[in-house]
Amino acid sequence: MSLGQNVVAWVDERFPLLRTWNEHIAQYYAPKNFNFWYFFGSLAIVVLVNQILTGIWLTMNYKPDGALAFASVEYIMRDVNWGWLLRYMHSTGASAFFVIVYLHMYRGLLYGSFRKPRELLWILGMVIFLVLMGEAFMGYLLPWGQMSYWGAQVITSLFGAIPIVGDDLALLIRGDFGISDITLNRFFALHVIALPLVLLGLVFVHIVALHKVGSNNPEGIEIKEGPKGNRWAKDKPADGIPFHPYYTIKDLVGVGVFLMFFSLVIFYEPSVFGWFLEPDNFIPANPLKTPVHIAPVWYFTPFYAILRAVPDKFLGVVAMFGAIAMLFILPWLDRSPVKSIRYKGPIFKIALLIFTISFLGLGYLGGQPPTPIFTMMARIFAILYFLFFLGMPFYSSIDITEPVPARIEE
Ligand code: HEM
Repeated sequence: MSLGQNVVAWVDERFPLLRTWNEHIAQYYAPKNFNFWYFFGSLAIVVLVNQILTGIWLTMNYKPDGALAFASVEYIMRDVNWGWLLRYMHSTGASAFFVIVYLHMYRGLLYGSFRKPRELLWILGMVIFLVLMGEAFMGYLLPWGQMSYWGAQVITSLFGAIPIVGDDLALLIRGDFGISDITLNRFFALHVIALPLVLLGLVFVHIVALHKVGSNNPEGIEIKEGPKGNRWAKDKPADGIPFHPYYTIKDLVGVGVFLMFFSLVIFYEPSVFGWFLEPDNFIPANPLKTPVHIAPVWYFTPFYAILRAVPDKFLGVVAMFGAIAMLFILPWLDRSPVKSIRYKGPIFKIALLIFTISFLGLGYLGGQPPTPIFTMMARIFAILYFLFFLGMPFYSSIDITEPVPARIEE
């Protein structure tokens, strides 16, 4: 035995190293027909690692103090060696995270990956999504620019609209009557340690849950229920291939393509014309001067547009949270006999198209000033958004579907 094999054998006697490697990687049988939509899970892990590493190095020079925060970020950008790169990798990484997670979720919608037996996997994903939104929201306060300050002011005051407990809740979140140095300190603590720990734990259980039930695929065929026996193992699904080396290599292609786009943004247009980093956030926070137009970063705008579409503040908050709640209960709304869009009927395809247009439309409108015409459009899109979910038990059960084949075709 070589030295390396000896070391592995020594560890393996004391820790289930090879068993874990085999169970989750070398002998984890994934459907053989994954397409590019299946890149986004591994890409989400790559971006999570990027955020944690760049975040650790940013923290070495950042100062969580209302009097120093803005200048410390400028110091990182101008004076710290490679500080600009760390900061742009982190700020672009935040937006990239949401691009990837939205596409990852959309894949679930296309192929019915939220359906039995993956309901818990989906719910864990939704909890990740909520925590990720909290993480991004708190991180955005840290540069202590105008939009950090006023964005946080608007969002925290929403909690004040909740009857009875609202004011106390807003006070608890801010630690003060308005956004202040105290808020900055607590958001810093939550952003750099509490929520990343929770996220890492959630991603771990997300993958444990995935490996318990096995991956879905573009055909929506359950390979575990099909015939057994493939080239590598007699007792494993016939339509499965070992995750390693087949998908480890394939995922590396996804990582390569992603890094090209990521570098393009970081090196050529890191603020993405004000979409990833808003112009107002290059002005230090000023509690005495409200910006003319306050808008959250793009990944929050669909939900922000739903909030503004409702005339009453409290009902707006309910609608905004309701929009997210729809995604939580999705596994119980779809009554179609098939999972994948490939075998679903015309009603679902049209409904999904309308939903997609509505979601993108809301995303655009949430970033624009609320003119009467835009408000009207946001109302229409918000109704269509809810109809997609609330009408699903009805239209998914009457839609004409095609029979799903027993095996994944070559
Ligand atoms: C930090 C964020 C996340 C990470 C790191 C992550 C990671 C992963 C990985 C590695 C996979 C397997 C590869 C793949 O199918 O693409 C996966 C599958 C899955 N994820 Fe996530 N995920 C995240 C967020 C979410 C969210 C927000 C949802 C939905 C609400 C979600 C729902 C699912 C589902 C349903 C599957 C199984 C898909 C299938 O087999 O077709 N995930 N995730």
